[in-house]
Amino acid sequence: CGIVGYIGKRDTAPLLLEGLQRLEYRGYDSAGIAIHASGKTTPGLKTAKTKGRVRDLEDRLPKRFQGTAGIAHTRWATHGVPNDANAHPHLDAAEQVAVVHNGIIDNAAELRAKLEADGIALASDTDTEVLAHLIGRSDAETLEARVQEALRHIEGTYGIAVLHADFPDRIVVARNGSPVVLGIGEKEMFVASDVAALVSHTRQVVTLDDGEMATIKAGDYRTYTTEGSRTSSSPETVEYAAESYDLGGHDTYMHKEIAEQADAVDRVLAGRIDDRFATVHLGGLNLDAREARAVRRVKILGCGTSYHAGMIGAQMIEELARIPADAEPASEFRYRNPVVDPDTLYVAVSQSGETYDALAAVQELKRKGARVLGVINVVGSAIAREADGGVYVHAGPEVCVVSTKCFTNTVVAFGLLALHLGRIRDLSVKDGKRIIEGLRKLPGQIAEIMKLEPQIEKLAQEYAEARSMLFIGRVRGFPVALEASLKLKEVSYIHAEAYPASELKHGPLALIEPAMPTVAIVPDDDLLEKNRAALEEIKARSGRILAVAHQEQEKADRTIVVPKNEDELDPILMGIPLQLLAYHTALALGRDIDKPRNLAKSVTVE
Ligand code: G6P
Repeated sequence: CGIVGYIGKRDTAPLLLEGLQRLEYRGYDSAGIAIHASGKTTPGLKTAKTKGRVRDLEDRLPKRFQGTAGIAHTRWATHGVPNDANAHPHLDAAEQVAVVHNGIIDNAAELRAKLEADGIALASDTDTEVLAHLIGRSDAETLEARVQEALRHIEGTYGIAVLHADFPDRIVVARNGSPVVLGIGEKEMFVASDVAALVSHTRQVVTLDDGEMATIKAGDYRTYTTEGSRTSSSPETVEYAAESYDLGGHDTYMHKEIAEQADAVDRVLAGRIDDRFATVHLGGLNLDAREARAVRRVKILGCGTSYHAGMIGAQMIEELARIPADAEPASEFRYRNPVVDPDTLYVAVSQSGETYDALAAVQELKRKGARVLGVINVVGSAIAREADGGVYVHAGPEVCVVSTKCFTNTVVAFGLLALHLGRIRDLSVKDGKRIIEGLRKLPGQIAEIMKLEPQIEKLAQEYAEARSMLFIGRVRGFPVALEASLKLKEVSYIHAEAYPASELKHGPLALIEPAMPTVAIVPDDDLLEKNRAALEEIKARSGRILAVAHQEQEKADRTIVVPKNEDELDPILMGIPLQLLAYHTALALGRDIDKPRNLAKSVTVE
C-alpha cells in the first residue's frame, strides 16, 4: 500500500493524486483522500474514496475539494475485500479524525469487538479503522498525545498518517515496521511511504525509524519517539533524481527497466573492482577476512524474484568460493523453526528491503544470534537497517511490479560477493581475473541482447496463444528457467512452470504436445550435450521448443542466441531475452503490464 500527505500553501488534492499515481505500484485495488477543507467550503475534514484505481478516485472527487493539508492512500487489500468502505482514509465516529495506514494490526479483531461493545458502529471491515476510533476517543490535550495513546493499544505493524479536524495546522505520522519518509520543502512538507511520491517536489528527506513519530507543519517538522522523547533527524538527499522515477519515453516501466539494465549493471560494478588483487571491494559488507574464512555455509533468503536471484547467487558462491550455499523462500524458512547455526552466513535478498517475510526472517535470525547480510536495492530500507552489513545492488528505482533490472543487478551483486569470498579463500588470481573480465563484459553484452528485441517481439506473437508453457534448465540454467516462468505468468497470466531439464522424464514429459511449448535454457557449458538430449526428448514427442542458447540449436524450433560470458556468469544474461518475451507476450495480450492483477510490488504483510 502507499501513503502520501501534504501540508503547505498549495491546493492539496492534485498534489496528493499525483503522489498516489507514483505509489500505485505498491497497491491498486482502492484509493482515497482526506483533506482539511478550506477556502470557499465549510471547514472540517472532507474525504473521498473508492474501490479501483487512482484515476477512479480522481473522477469521484467532489467539485469543491479545496484545502492545503491532506493525506491519501492507495491500497492492496489484506483485511477486508477491496470496496469503497474498506478504502482508506478511515474516520472515527465523529468524523473528526482521518487515518491512512500501511501494515497490519494484529489485535484488530479484539479491538473491534471492544469498540463495538462500547456502542461504536464500525464502518468497514478493516484493521485500520480501530486506530481512527482510538484516536478519536482520546481526550489527551495534543494530537500527538492522542495518537501515542492510541498506538499503545496496537499490536502489529504500521506506517500511519493522521489528520484531525481540531488541529488543522499539522499531520502526525508514526512508523513501526512500515516505511514513513518526510519530504522537506520550502514552506511545505510532504510525507510518504516511499520517496517515489516525493522526488518531484523535494529530494530532501527524513526517514523515520521504527518507534518514531513526526509532526509536520507547513513551515517545520519535528520527530520524537512513540514515548514522546525528541529524536534528531537531519534531512538526507535522495540518491536518484526525479527523472529516474519517470517513464523516460517508454510506454511502461517494465520496458524502461528492462532497457536500462546495461546502465544498472554499470552502477553495481562501479568503484568495486580491484584489478591489482583480482577481487572486489564491498565497503558495506562488515565481514573481515577472518570472519569470511570461518563461514561454513551460506543460506540465502528472499521472496519471489529475489529468491530466484538468491538461487543463482548460491550457485555462484558454491562455484567461486566453494562454500556450500543454498537459497530458500524467506517465508518458508521463518515458519519451520530453522536450526540457526553460528558458522552459517545468512544473506537476505530484497529489492524493496521491506518485504515482511524477509524482514521477519532477518529479525528471527538476529534474535538467535546469527550474522545476517543484506543484498538490497533500496538504501536505508528496513532490511538494510536490520542486517549487519551487505551489498547494495544500485539498480535504481524499480517501479513495475514485476522485477527485471533489480533481478539482474542482484545476481551481479552476488557475483561480486562470490568473487570476494572466493578470493579470501581458494579462488586463484587467474580465476579472479577471469571473473572480473566477465563482469566487465556484462553491460556491453546486455546491450547486444537488447538488439534482439524485434526478433523476440515476433516470437511473443507466436507464444501469446499458448495456454501453458514449460521452462527447463539444468543446474545454472534452472533458476533462470524458474525466474523466466515467473515473469511470464506474473505479467501475461499464461500458466508457466519451470522444471529441471534432468527431471523431464519423471513427469513433465507427459505434458508435452504441440500446444505446450517449452522454453529451454541451453548454455554452452559442460552440460550442453545433456541439454541437447532433453531437447531431443521433447522433439520426439512433437513438442515445440524455444531455446535460449549461445549457438543455434538444431532441435529447437527457434533459438535466441545470446552472447557467451564465463560459465559462472552466463545465468545473468540468459534470462534477459525472456524478460522481453514476457513483456511482449503481455503486450500482445493487452495486459496491464506495470500492475498485474492481484499483485503488489512490496508485500509488507504476511
Ligand atoms: C512481490 C513482488 C515481486 C518481488 C517480491 C519480493 O511479490 O511482486 O516482484 O520479487 O515481492 O520483493 P522484494 O522487494 O523483497 O525483492
